[in-house]
Amino acid sequence: MELKRPVTIFDTTLRDGEQSPGCSMRAGEKLRLARQLERLGVDVIEAGFPISSEGDYNAVRQVAAEVRGCRIAALARCNPTDVLRAARALEPAARPRIHTFLATSDIHLQFKLKITRQQALEQAAKAVALARSWCDDVEFSPEDATRSDVEYLCRVIEAVVEAGATTINIPDTVGYAVPREFSRLIETIRARVKVIEKAAISVHCHNDLGLAVANSLAAVEAGAAQVECTINGIGERAGNAALEELIMAMHVRPDAMPYATRVNTAELWPTSRMLSEIISFSPQPNKAIVGSNAFAHEAGIHQHGVLSNPLCYEIMTPESVGAPGNRIVLGKHSGRHALANRCAQLGWPVSGERLNEVYAQFIELADRKKNIYEQDLLAILGAAKIPTAEAPIARAQSASGD
Ligand code: KIV
Ligand code: ZN
Repeated sequence: MELKRPVTIFDTTLRDGEQSPGCSMRAGEKLRLARQLERLGVDVIEAGFPISSEGDYNAVRQVAAEVRGCRIAALARCNPTDVLRAARALEPAARPRIHTFLATSDIHLQFKLKITRQQALEQAAKAVALARSWCDDVEFSPEDATRSDVEYLCRVIEAVVEAGATTINIPDTVGYAVPREFSRLIETIRARVKVIEKAAISVHCHNDLGLAVANSLAAVEAGAAQVECTINGIGERAGNAALEELIMAMHVRPDAMPYATRVNTAELWPTSRMLSEIISFSPQPNKAIVGSNAFAHEAGIHQHGVLSNPLCYEIMTPESVGAPGNRIVLGKHSGRHALANRCAQLGWPVSGERLNEVYAQFIELADRKKNIYEQDLLAILGAAKIPTAEAPIARAQSASGD
């Protein structure tokens, strides 16, 4: 077996994740999630953007003071006020990191920052040097890197590494990159920036085209040593690369992705649920790894397979991600195997002709009713009254709003 290359997991749920609509968190909530991220085993927690508000400054300070098992990062634009505010917020940290960023694409320089390429290069190098005077660990991100001129991007990277940056993070800020192009960009930076050996390369991918995880993994293959990601993939617009997807891709396919992280996969589900509870919204049911349907089976053929051997339709066990177990959902696509199994669980084993009878009634009901509950089955089995046809249909319709 090939030796696994270590990859640093930089979690930005508390910063970029928090920037998505409806996801803001109070200091106490950030601290609670940060402690869980520490249990999960991430290497770096980006706790916030201290200049953005007094509340965020205090949240970063609190996380820095109390979470000692991870490196704690704080974000700062490339100006002295931001950098000093981040440095102050990180004062109590055991292992602080200042993360500075400045856009390098012409579209951002011209329309947002209204400065020239040369001015941006100098501003970035100056801010990194200032950050280094406060902290040994400084990350720099050329915002909108994937839409920047590559030659210029390489010059900026060279300047900030010479100014003391220890990590160079390449953000696909608008989720525009595709995997092959993004991995080539990492290879180009490694080949053209002579001083790059002095810094670690990181990537930070947004999910506007649904490619954030694929792009991140392509970059790791091309030599990136750190990935930035969020729990449940929350983040600006369509979100960031989902931490749980990156981790389980590496875990399930070490043959294709021989990378090592410190993450305890059994903490993925509890972390996802804690975040959902804090921000009051859950990932979509079909979300990979942590969606409520990630280990649910409704089709009869699938149910038969899973009941015979879960490996038929599951490439990872629910236990491996800390999920409560797989779910066999009874519906109109279910078959006799799943039905017999559920009847036995309810204490009413059926087989042979009796199973055929129960199955016929069950399918007839399932055709009319979206959800089949235990009471419905018990009613069919003769253990309770059979519900009327109209009532469940009306309930299902009003629940779905159609
Ligand atoms: O998406 C982005 O470019 C960012 C940077 C601050 C790293 O979030
Ligand atoms: Zn981002």
